Amino acid sequence: MSQKEVYQFNVPTFGRGVVFDVGHQERAEQFRFFSEALKTARLQTYVELMVVEAEAFFAQRLVGESGEVRASPPARVAPPTRVAGGPAAPAERPHHPHRQPHADGQGGPGAGAWSRRGAAPPHAPQLFEKVSDLFHDLDMGMQPISLIFPHLPIAAHRRRDASRKELSRIFTKVIRARVASGVKGADVLQCFIDAQYKDGRKLTEDQITGMLIAVLFAGQHTSSITSTWTGLFLMSTPEWQAKCEAEQRAVRASAGEALTFDSLSKMDTLHVCIKEALRLHPPLIMLMRLAHEDFSVTDREGRSFTVPKGDIVATSPTFSHRLEHVWKAPETYNPARHLEGSGEGQLPFSFVGFGGGRHGCMGETFAYMQIKTIWAYLLRNFEFKLLSPFPEPDYAAMVVGPKAPTRVSWRRRKL
Ligand code: HEM
Repeated sequence: MSQKEVYQFNVPTFGRGVVFDVGHQERAEQFRFFSEALKTARLQTYVELMVVEAEAFFAQRLVGESGEVRASPPARVAPPTRVAGGPAAPAERPHHPHRQPHADGQGGPGAGAWSRRGAAPPHAPQLFEKVSDLFHDLDMGMQPISLIFPHLPIAAHRRRDASRKELSRIFTKVIRARVASGVKGADVLQCFIDAQYKDGRKLTEDQITGMLIAVLFAGQHTSSITSTWTGLFLMSTPEWQAKCEAEQRAVRASAGEALTFDSLSKMDTLHVCIKEALRLHPPLIMLMRLAHEDFSVTDREGRSFTVPKGDIVATSPTFSHRLEHVWKAPETYNPARHLEGSGEGQLPFSFVGFGGGRHGCMGETFAYMQIKTIWAYLLRNFEFKLLSPFPEPDYAAMVVGPKAPTRVSWRRRKL
């Protein structure tokens, strides 16, 4: 069962020489680099940066004592900032006219990450701006039609290709500046700079760019969408919101105010609330493979099928997560079903929100840490109320999130 053929549509976005554009052997080595970059020991450092990013993000959006926002995942992909090794996000970007610039005029709280962890590029905010636009073009270049005709000469693909080239040029400069500075960053970029194939080769600068793009595309929309659904479900189930708040109080009492890898790891209630949001609304609704050989399968009623070589096989987390023989009342949001002893979801591959098997998500822990950081921060500092009806999933999107922007009111408070 092979991913390469069915995920070819990613090649123009990620670039040549990485992931689905290379042979099995090289891809396996590149996946080793991903898993090295995302291993738990590194996550401890990334969590510090996630907290800084989350605080800066909400400081700019939730200004004052109360207000109303639209709860939808950001339409734009944010470029890899600190975690991926780029410059800190500037406080003000022109397409968000309502943001408040931070007093330091640079990256808001903690903008010194570059100088602490690597070489600071000149004009970081402008660079961030430019890279943000380029990532947006890459993102917009992945349309449903791109799955079938990734090279169709349409404007979105042309912009995607031009942006991919420009990103490579910019990242090459950043990589060279990092290497020349002699300062090692504690980030994903550094992992890719240091990565070495078994035969001693290193990744080229363009491949490093491609690896950064790939990891961003794997992780960003999926995480921001799951974060949005989690919040919407908490707002709609007062019982679970209260349980999460009680957990925040307890964690704060035992582990202190700071959000750290260890304190986030104690948030089991929030964890199952996120998992349950992901069960009901997995952002990746179809995982595909190409059969390289004939094989047979037997279903639970004992019927056998042969899948012929050359067929595409797909599984859908959305469908699997609503199977009545696996989940009780599958349409109901009930995080308790993921607690030990619930007796649910016991069959192999019951929960496939992060895929499974050989190619299961490598960013699962990273994703939980990010989403927990966001909701721990929000629950501790704000109260939210859903003003619109609960949204439907937008199945027209490549990564499926809530359909219409949902109106949410907020009020500042100290939990
Ligand atoms: C809630 C957030 C996320 C969800 C729902 C999610 C979901 C998935 C799924 C379903 C797959 C399997 C794809 C397949 O079998 O074809 C996958 C693979 C992968 N994910 Fe995630 N992901 C999330 C976050 C992340 C993050 C934050 C990162 C990185 C920082 C990441 C990195 C990866 C990588 C590298 C793979 C490829 C693994 C392989 O093919 O061997 N993911 N993810």
